[in-house]
Amino acid sequence: MSGAVLIAIVAGGAALLGLLTFSMVRGRDVRGAGALSRETIRRDRDADLDVPSGSSGRDVERAASEARSAALVPASAGAPALWVPPDREEVGVSRRQFFNRASVTLMSAGLGGFAAAGFVAFLWPTAAPVFGGKVNVGKLGDVLATIRSSGGFFYSSAARSYVTVFPTEAIPKAKGVGEYASLLSGMENGVIASYQKCPHLGCRVPECKSSQWFECPCHGSQYNRVGEKKAGPAPRGMDHFAIEVSAAGDVIVDTSLVINGPPLGTNTTGQEAEGPHCITGGGGSH
Ligand code: FES
Repeated sequence: MSGAVLIAIVAGGAALLGLLTFSMVRGRDVRGAGALSRETIRRDRDADLDVPSGSSGRDVERAASEARSAALVPASAGAPALWVPPDREEVGVSRRQFFNRASVTLMSAGLGGFAAAGFVAFLWPTAAPVFGGKVNVGKLGDVLATIRSSGGFFYSSAARSYVTVFPTEAIPKAKGVGEYASLLSGMENGVIASYQKCPHLGCRVPECKSSQWFECPCHGSQYNRVGEKKAGPAPRGMDHFAIEVSAAGDVIVDTSLVINGPPLGTNTTGQEAEGPHCITGGGGSH
């Protein structure tokens, strides 16, 4: 046997011995983990523990269970009461119900107030004269005085009409014109109200102080002082409103109803132009 082989055998034996020694020490450490030391075991044996002598764990648990059962109160022998759902009204309304009801209440109150205000406004007499109703344009004496002082015409913006003198001598002829039937009361008080709107195409017809006629600037229709057509394309005389004079002498122009003007050719007053026309080129009579 050579020297090298002998050295290898000796080295392998030494390594094997070292490995065996390490394994024995390691095994002793593992067995010691979690194990009580001798001193701890001696202290536990000497301690005065409150454990019933001779009782097993099962005996202790059974005793505890019996103690818990004894502490329970037995239920009454009567029949169980039926469960009745609570009244929602008594319990109260939810927040959503509250807001829904509040919204409906407020909306109803608003609509009710609006309707009540409209109803009161409908019933309440209108303080100021309004076109479309009966318009008081003043005392008859004042109206006639204004007509004289202002060159033959009294204009009321509230009634949107002119009040002019209707000659007493023309009344017999007027009674023969059907369109004048509801105007006779005013005529007999010496006045007639002519609507400012031209019966041709609706322009406002102004008075012409020089001719003492009405002369429309739009297409030249001309009417005498009581609104009977004299020239131009208008299909009839000026429309009118009925006038009534109250017991107190107030001139009431009823603008709730437009009365069609008299037909072409009506000429109850025989009034011709009293001066130069304000509008030229009105064309001939139709
Ligand atoms: S609108 Fe008055 S004449 Fe045409």
